[in-house]
Amino acid sequence: CKVLVLNGPNLNMLGTRQPEIYGHSTLADLERLAKTAAEPLGLVIDFRQSNSETELITWVQEARADMAGIVINAGAYTHTSVAIMDALLAFPGPVLELHLSNNFRREAFRHTSYVSLAAKGIIEGFGADGYELAVHAMAKLLRGAA
Ligand code: DQA
Repeated sequence: CKVLVLNGPNLNMLGTRQPEIYGHSTLADLERLAKTAAEPLGLVIDFRQSNSETELITWVQEARADMAGIVINAGAYTHTSVAIMDALLAFPGPVLELHLSNNFRREAFRHTSYVSLAAKGIIEGFGADGYELAVHAMAKLLRGAA
């Protein structure tokens, strides 16, 4: 089973970007965590990051071809992008929303998530561990669907 793990804008800056909020792990560290968690569960992770809303939408559309599920940390597009939400709503498999920080402890504009309207569930506030937790949650969802 293939799972697409999508990362949105500014997540390429992890490690040096506001570490007091997002921690010290780099995006490469998160990729390693997700892939290490996926292997014994029989999942193959396609791990990507883009700062471009357009590119993220295209990847979600293309995922229909060969991905069983999508885990998405859409970064700030979470709170703004009806277009990413629409793309996710057109994806037939399970979608999990992921965030490093707990958005509900932050500014009010982060309390709205368009991604949530397309997501089966949300994992947020667990920092880097969330990438591992999301892979486990996705494996369970896919096992249930099989
Ligand atoms: C984030 C939370 C968003 O509000 C923020 O814009 C990000 C990262 C997180 O992982 O905590 O870029 O998605």
